[in-house]
Parts: sequence; C-alpha cells; structure tokens
Amino acid sequence: MSRRSKKSKGNLFLIVIAIIVILGGVGYILYNKIIYSNNKAKVVLKDKLDVEINEEVMLSTFIKEIKNGEILNKDDKVDTSKLGKKKIKLDIKDKNNESDNFSFDINVIDKTSPKIEGKSELSTYVGSKIDLLKDVKVSDNSLEEISAKVTGEYDINKAGEYKLKYEASDSSNNKSEMDFVLKVISDPNNRTFTTSKGFSGKVVNGVTYIDGYLIANKTYNLPSSYGPGLLSSTRDAFNKMQGDAKAVGFNLYIGSGYRSYYDQKYIYNNYVARDGQAAADTYSARAGHSEHQTGLAIDVCDYGVAACVSSGFDNTAQAKWISDNCYRYGFILRYLKGKESVTGYMYESWHLRYVGVDLATKLYNNGNWIALEDYFGIDSKYS
Ligand code: DAL
Ligand code: ZN
Repeated sequence: MSRRSKKSKGNLFLIVIAIIVILGGVGYILYNKIIYSNNKAKVVLKDKLDVEINEEVMLSTFIKEIKNGEILNKDDKVDTSKLGKKKIKLDIKDKNNESDNFSFDINVIDKTSPKIEGKSELSTYVGSKIDLLKDVKVSDNSLEEISAKVTGEYDINKAGEYKLKYEASDSSNNKSEMDFVLKVISDPNNRTFTTSKGFSGKVVNGVTYIDGYLIANKTYNLPSSYGPGLLSSTRDAFNKMQGDAKAVGFNLYIGSGYRSYYDQKYIYNNYVARDGQAAADTYSARAGHSEHQTGLAIDVCDYGVAACVSSGFDNTAQAKWISDNCYRYGFILRYLKGKESVTGYMYESWHLRYVGVDLATKLYNNGNWIALEDYFGIDSKYS
C-alpha cells in the first residue's frame, strides 16, 4: 500500500469522526433544547414545555439547566390563562455580565377533566318534580362555566331505584362522569292504589278517597290539619231526615257531629284513661282516624230516648227507623252488628255517615246492610 493512500485513509477517518462529533453535538443541542446566548450562557429547557391552563408556573419551571450565566426573570409568573402557544422571553445575563434575551414557545393545554360534585343518592316521591342538577357543581381548571347533564333513564311516575350519571365536558373535550342513584319512592301521602274489590283509591295530601269517597277508619287516617267542620251536605241530609222522622213522631237531633283531630284526641285519651287502650280501641277512634273529623258523620239521638250515643239506643223504635230509612237521605249505618272485625268497631246504632243516596242505597241492600269496608274491599286495622 502506498503512503499516499495511507494518508487519504487517515483523512477519511478524521472526516468521519468530525461528522459524528458534529451530528452528535447538533443532536445534543436539539434534544436538550439548548439555547446558546451570544455571550456563552447556556440554557437547557425541560423536555416538556406543556402546561395546563391556569396552572401557576414561573419561568424557571421550563428551565432544566443554565450554565455560565443566570436568568434574571426566572421567578416571573407565566400567564397560562389562554390555550395555545405562548412565547416566553428569558432575560439572561452571562458570566461576563452581558445581557441578552431569548424566546421559546410553551404550549398551554387542557387535559384536565372537569370535576363534578353532587350527591351520590337522591330520593323523591313518585309523580313529584325534581331538579336533578340542583345541587350539582362542575368546576374545571379552564374556569369555564360548565353545566352537567343527566344521562340514563328513569320514570318519575314509577317507584324504583334508577342508576344514572352526571356528565360534564369542557371546551377541550375533556369529559367526566359521576354515578348517582335516583330513588323514586311512593309517597304515603300522595299515592294511588287499587282495593281488593278493584276500586281505585287515591291519597291526596294524606286524605284517602276510594272511588271518590273519603275514607276514615283504622287503616286510613286524616292529617291533623284536616278539618272542614260539619259539611252542608251532611247537615242538609240530616235536616231532611229529621223532618220526615218528625212526621212519624220522632224528635231527632245530632248528638255529636264534626269533631276536630284535637277534639278526638281528647275524647280518645279520656276513654283510654278510663277503660284502657284495648277497650277504647273497640269503640273510640284514635285521633286522625275518626269519621267525625271528615264532617260527614253524625251521631243521631232522639229527645224521646234517654240513651244517646250508647247501646241504650240500640233497640229503640228510633234506631230501627233510622236503620230502615237513613239511606233515603244519603246516610249509611256505619258500624254494623256482627261486622266488628270488618269495620274495626263495635256496633253503633246511632253513627251515620253521609255518602249520598246512590251508594247509601247500595249499602242498605234492601235492609241487609253491607259494611263500607266490605263493599270497597278495604281493611280497618291500625298498622
Ligand atoms: N265512635 C267512633 C268509632 C269514633 O270515635 O269515631
Ligand atoms: Zn259517631
């Protein structure tokens, strides 16, 4: 091999080494995001130049290293309130005290999902109105106004537990969701039902109607606030009955008509004190359970009969006439003999309930009285 070729091989080797060194140097600079200052200060930026919107950062956050100088404004806060590229300017002083400045771009991004805060369980009554979003708060680092929406299916008119979700998304399409359960429960004070005989019942603000007739017994009570006084339909019907009874020689009067919840409470408590609760429950209604609170019930007495509102009235001619005729005026005999377990009370020959002539005639049943509970297919029992 000649000397010349030996020499050119050596040069080639040096050139290859030089290229490797240069490429390596450029690669190092690019990889480390190095900015060289004119005055030899060297700044190495961090690999990650992304910052979340509204994140609190200082210029130094983006600096990995500074050599041969210092960054004068490294503690300045960076405005990260807007999405997108943002130019950052570094004021640099090198070790020779010469100043310069350098700029680079950071990226303000939003990869953070909104935060949903709400109750994991909500409950409401069947048929009610409910705003499922009322107590739901959505916050996001973007500080945008974000409202959640409800996903999933539920039927406010049907009792059940519904598994639903709140969902929220910000303008960068970051999404969040939160599971919650909506419990739709039947409101004991506002519900509908069907009796064992197929009549439709409804409870409206705690007052029960079956086939449209107000019901008060041991099963169905009235709110303490319910108090219409003696209704004119009841009084008019009694007046008519009283007039006709007079024609056959009777002298009827109302021994007890309307009684408020509190009147009944007082009466019942006195009976309990006198006879004990078990006995009192056979003849006196607990507060809220008396038909006298409906304004539709009357205890009928006669001036010619000493016994009033007591079993002494039972076998009188007046009691018989009432039993045979009260339906004509729309009254029913409410607590029948032999039906104590059905009505919940002992026989009362004097207690009438106004229901109107149609129903009264059906229950009169040609003299073979049917109990209201039996007719509708309902109970009269304390729960
Ligand atoms: N004596 C009837 C049951 C009442 O107390 O209402
Ligand atoms: Zn009565």
